[in-house]
Amino acid sequence: MAVGRQLFSHTTQALVYYYKQLPIQNMLDFDFLCGRETPSVAAIINPAGAGGFHNLFFGQHQILIPLYSSVEDACAVHPTADVFIDFGSHRSAATSSKLALTQATIRIVAIIADGIPESDLMELIDYAKSNNKIVIGPATIGAIKAGAFKIGDTGGTIDNIIQFKLYRPGSIGFVSNSGGMANELYHMIARVTDGIHEGITIGGDAFPICMISDHVLRFNNIYQVKMIVVVVEAVQSLVEVLTSGKINKPVCVLWINNVRLFKSGDQFNISQGDESSCGQLEALKDAGAIVSSSYETFEVSIKQTFNKLTEEGKIVPIIKEVTPPQIPEDLTTAMKSGKVRVPTRIVSTISDERGVDVQYAGVPLCVMLEKGMGIGDVISLLWFKRSLPHYCTKFMEICIILCADHGPCVSGAHNSIVTSRAGKDLVSCLVSGLLTIGPRFGGAVDDAARYFKDAYDRNLSPYEFVEGMKKKGIRVPGIGHRIKRGDNRDKRVELLQQFGYTNFPSTKYMDYAVKVETYTLSKANNLVMNIDGAIATLFLDLLAGSGLFSKQEIDEIVSIGYLNGLFVLARSIGLIGHTLDQKRLKQPLYRHPWEDVLYACHVK
Ligand code: ACO
Ligand code: LMR
Repeated sequence: MAVGRQLFSHTTQALVYYYKQLPIQNMLDFDFLCGRETPSVAAIINPAGAGGFHNLFFGQHQILIPLYSSVEDACAVHPTADVFIDFGSHRSAATSSKLALTQATIRIVAIIADGIPESDLMELIDYAKSNNKIVIGPATIGAIKAGAFKIGDTGGTIDNIIQFKLYRPGSIGFVSNSGGMANELYHMIARVTDGIHEGITIGGDAFPICMISDHVLRFNNIYQVKMIVVVVEAVQSLVEVLTSGKINKPVCVLWINNVRLFKSGDQFNISQGDESSCGQLEALKDAGAIVSSSYETFEVSIKQTFNKLTEEGKIVPIIKEVTPPQIPEDLTTAMKSGKVRVPTRIVSTISDERGVDVQYAGVPLCVMLEKGMGIGDVISLLWFKRSLPHYCTKFMEICIILCADHGPCVSGAHNSIVTSRAGKDLVSCLVSGLLTIGPRFGGAVDDAARYFKDAYDRNLSPYEFVEGMKKKGIRVPGIGHRIKRGDNRDKRVELLQQFGYTNFPSTKYMDYAVKVETYTLSKANNLVMNIDGAIATLFLDLLAGSGLFSKQEIDEIVSIGYLNGLFVLARSIGLIGHTLDQKRLKQPLYRHPWEDVLYACHVK
């Protein structure tokens, strides 16, 4: 043990093994309270990780703490970080701590885990002592140099740190076995003295690697420490160091195994004084320790000792108390406590995945399955935010079936096929096909709904409607096809019409569209109603005839444009099919044949 050395300073930095957000943020908040300019955590080692950074707060600002996958890499990049805080489990901590001790840049290792096998501990003790390294723990909560540096959650929450005045140094050196009492004692010491200079818990394990006596001797040789407070379970080594003549500062001792800590209620592993403990108690007193017989008298003896040192001029009272900076409260905490309210950045009204069961428009998935709901119901809930009657959901499902694919020659399928043969991934091939959907191919449904609804609602005759569009130079959406003709109609249109005529309360918009088609066919045989037009006008009938949508809602649906979504949803099935088909066939890169291109470079 390096005797007479301050273990930590205002610039001490640590490497943290395993990412533990709360204790690391607690350390950084302590740094900020102490006015440190550099964070006390230099890097985090995450064996399963692969580099990168963790975003944490340093006061009001965010900082990036680098992540490393190995101890060696972290030590090499951060040679001034000489404290290693091992949050590894009892299964792994001995290995990682031993590895850290072998690094030349590591001086102190704190092992948080308890239950490390005895043989591993013995090896760590031997290595630490023979290489003049310091190990705190195992089974420790850590150590704290008031106003400078702390390990992990030592000292408790930031509110505790402020209450115990740990953000600035006092005159007391504190050492105990376990961290369980440390915060209690920090609080007691803050009440009756000028506070902790350094506090350290050597660990509650049966085999602490450093002894309490080591730190008593070290505290005795630190000028700023004027008295030492000890909570101890085994007194032998303490008696030895006290009788060695090397300790010349007052040592207040609370021997846990022999005192009634509290007047009543739970006791810390009290074993009433038996013969041997009476002897040990006497030995402690004979060695010069100021020994207390209860928690209450311990506070009194600390206070009396501190006051005596102050009267003797050995402790100069703190005249002006330091006021620590305000630690900004985390937004989540402040929101939970109702101190702040923050507008959400996103509003969603269609689904909620926060509960056990995801809900679509308030309907839990399990209920949907219990009721035998299908994709039409899902569209009803997620697009229209309500459950629609069966004939409506069935209509949407038929649209999806009919529009899922229309062979490899249509433009969208062609693009997916070509993209697939270029070796692109599924999503790219799908998107390549979907990007083809537009005003001429598959994307005319919403425009057809808009124009046909407008024409119908304004009582335009088919002639007025069609010629009016022609005058505006706009092709009537929902009319015309590359291969379908008046004498070779699109069967899909007929199937949809049959479903509408059979199940819909009204088909006024489809009836109007048929009249428009009759007129357009009188002009040209290719101007046949196409699937976009059929979906559009029957959907208008669905909305108007269901009685479930107000006029305003229908206008909004038509204006926003829901219906192209039906074609996109449907045709995605076919585009994926073509993509997979080409991959199965292991088709080579597609190149269009020369003979199928008219090279008209001479044309200006
Ligand atoms: N309204 C008015 N006139 C039309 C329409 C129409 N919808 N479609 C074609 N015409 C006219 C053209 O103006 C042209 O007349 P012109 O020679 O006097 O200029 C003639 O018919 C031939 O035009 P083309 O573009 O050669 O016809 P094509 O068969 O290539 O067009 C297409 C097919 C692209 C579907 C076309 O009819 C159209 O744009 N329709 C409107 C958009 C639409 O509904 N698309 C959905 C198609 S189905 C689907 O993609 C699933
Ligand atoms: C389709 O559904 O893709 C067709 O109506 C368009 C076409 O060219 O066949």
